[in-house]
Amino acid sequence: MSHASEPQPLTARRSGPLTGRARVPGDKSISQRALILGAMAVGETRITGLLEGEDVINTSRVMQALGATVERTGEGAWSIRGVGVGGFAEPAGALYFGNSGTGCRLMMGAVAGCPITAVFDGDASLRTRPMRRILDPLEKIGARTTEQAEGGRLPVTLQGARDPLPIEYEAPVPSAQLKSAVLLAGLAAPGATTVIENEATRDHTEKMLKHFGASVRVTHIGEHGRRITLEGQPELEAAAVVVPADPSSAAFPLIGALIVPGSEIVLEGVMLNPLRTGLFTTLKEMGASIEMLEQRNEGGEDVADLRIRAGALKGVDVPAERAPTMIDEYPILAVAAAFAEGVTRMRGLKELRVKESDRLEATAAMLRGNGVEVEIEGDDLIVRGKGAVAGGGVVATHMDHRIAMSALVMGLGSEQGVSVDDAAFIATSFPGFADLMRSLGADYS
Ligand code: S3P
Repeated sequence: MSHASEPQPLTARRSGPLTGRARVPGDKSISQRALILGAMAVGETRITGLLEGEDVINTSRVMQALGATVERTGEGAWSIRGVGVGGFAEPAGALYFGNSGTGCRLMMGAVAGCPITAVFDGDASLRTRPMRRILDPLEKIGARTTEQAEGGRLPVTLQGARDPLPIEYEAPVPSAQLKSAVLLAGLAAPGATTVIENEATRDHTEKMLKHFGASVRVTHIGEHGRRITLEGQPELEAAAVVVPADPSSAAFPLIGALIVPGSEIVLEGVMLNPLRTGLFTTLKEMGASIEMLEQRNEGGEDVADLRIRAGALKGVDVPAERAPTMIDEYPILAVAAAFAEGVTRMRGLKELRVKESDRLEATAAMLRGNGVEVEIEGDDLIVRGKGAVAGGGVVATHMDHRIAMSALVMGLGSEQGVSVDDAAFIATSFPGFADLMRSLGADYS
């Protein structure tokens, strides 16, 4: 699926209170991993609550191109018959991942342990993103990059290892995608593959590998680090996966409700994995009213219904160590910071420069173009909140779904509304975003 079609501009106008209940789509990280591990397991994996966004649909097509049988059996209900560890067939054409760094990077790892050659490609945004960080450890495992664009970018041709080696790898950047790529390659290697991360990142791959029957040991190192060891060549067995609601998607209506006066909404079944909840911690420090109702466990993850009420927010200092637990949430946190009173300093955001866009620059430009005082100092983003946002700007979204949604949330509380040049990329992670927001009272046209 591509966005060669016309851009889709959209405007968010100052809206009345947001009210009602909603459930945002399934978690993107878990959806991607469920399809990939389902394709690497033996037997039928049934998934419910799968995110049917473009990123995930592209991964489902890649799984089919590699020999798995993938079938949609109902809304969010999918069935996959896998080929077993090391069993991918050589694809006839290039594997196309659209906008998705996660799909592409995890699959580089999965292919690296198989004796096949595959071309990896994506859209113009994905073609700008660094892949060397993934290819370096995969080459240590025995895969070879036979073609790549300048700087190790897509399109990349990867020749998987005939005899993959188990490695111990210390990740130079905190990245769940990098960790996952090494672990997925390690599945086909004899013996133990270890990844050391100095700052813990989302642990969905480790948890799901265990769920599918692999042996994974996790030990803590220091205050924030982890050492993850996978025993290679397991028999992965098909397992049912229930996908909880995505906290990164929930962030958009959640902050909409915080900044539009008089709002009160409930977001159902939001995942509360502690490596994903940095935003909630930060918003509570800012004085936000967020209640966790009906806490329960769904599919191995804690979830809750979140009740959010609008109210005054204050600026805070967000420590760099928190970044991995809220890495996708900075653009929308910056919107909350603009509506807060006082300075919010978000530290250590270097990784934002290599997301679907340069999100540090794109976030600052989004705010600046709508009358908010904002600065970038090194890797820090500083927002000087005044309790209100003028709006009136047209935000350049740079093929980045999270910039588009953040701008469209900001518009709801602004004086003059906010437009985006292209809302089309929202469909990569949050299909139905505009309709869900409208059902709560958002004025989008
Ligand atoms: C993801 C990891 C993060 C995140 C992305 C999803 C994942 O990327 O930004 O949206 O599912 O593993 P990095 O691993 O590059 O930090």
